[in-house]
Amino acid sequence: MADEEEIKKEMLDLLMEKITGGLSEKAYDYGYNPRNYGSLDSPDGYAKITGPCGDTMEMFLKINNDKIDDITYTTDGCVTSHAAGTAATVMAKGKPVRECIKINQSAILEHLDGLPEDSEHCALLVAKTFHSALRNYAVGKKR
Ligand code: FES
Repeated sequence: MADEEEIKKEMLDLLMEKITGGLSEKAYDYGYNPRNYGSLDSPDGYAKITGPCGDTMEMFLKINNDKIDDITYTTDGCVTSHAAGTAATVMAKGKPVRECIKINQSAILEHLDGLPEDSEHCALLVAKTFHSALRNYAVGKKR
């Protein structure tokens, strides 16, 4: 009887993996229901980077008193780039700029409960674009 239960569980796990493409529940949700997608007019920080995979990520920041008031992204990339873009924006919104420096590839992957190994670079592209947008804000502030 226990064997039967084990087989059922194994089959269910396999089926779920097939359906979700090996994504965690959070990555699947963010990937298929992206948050903070779109552009912002006159952003205080902006960056656009095309990764080695050929996909482009854009990020827009609205910053007030050195705090991220609003943050959005656009991409022509895959489901996992949406998952990572959503993760970074959800993590950064409302945070002081200096805390956002910690939002790197591994923090994004941790927030998503991981991504399949061959998609981990999507989180790197998002982190690079985000940091570049923060730099763009910092340079603009100096002027
Ligand atoms: Fe290019 Fe995901 S495969 S960003």
